[in-house]
Amino acid sequence: MGSNRPEQFAATVWEGGKERSISLARGENLLMALVRAQLPINFFCTTGKCRTCMVRMNIPAGSAPPPSETEQYRLGEAVQQGYRLACQVYVTGPLTVFLDTSGSA
Ligand code: FES
Repeated sequence: MGSNRPEQFAATVWEGGKERSISLARGENLLMALVRAQLPINFFCTTGKCRTCMVRMNIPAGSAPPPSETEQYRLGEAVQQGYRLACQVYVTGPLTVFLDTSGSA
């Protein structure tokens, strides 16, 4: 095994004022990982059209490809605030997801 790229890494998820950590496999779909972890993420189309899965996240460079044209089109200015469509994010490194929408503590 010559590669030292990790194949599993942790995503930090803020939900209900608490921090959780979930394990992700390289290239895994973020929406599916959140659903599998039984976290409260709404979704409908899973194809980047309905915006239901829109969520704010902090993605360090290299932890996911930048927003696709579809995401940019659907999200508009929200992209600048860190919003992504979870169903369109394929994770390649550690990141933080903010499921909390109320409050700003
Ligand atoms: S579930 Fe519809 S845009 Fe992600």
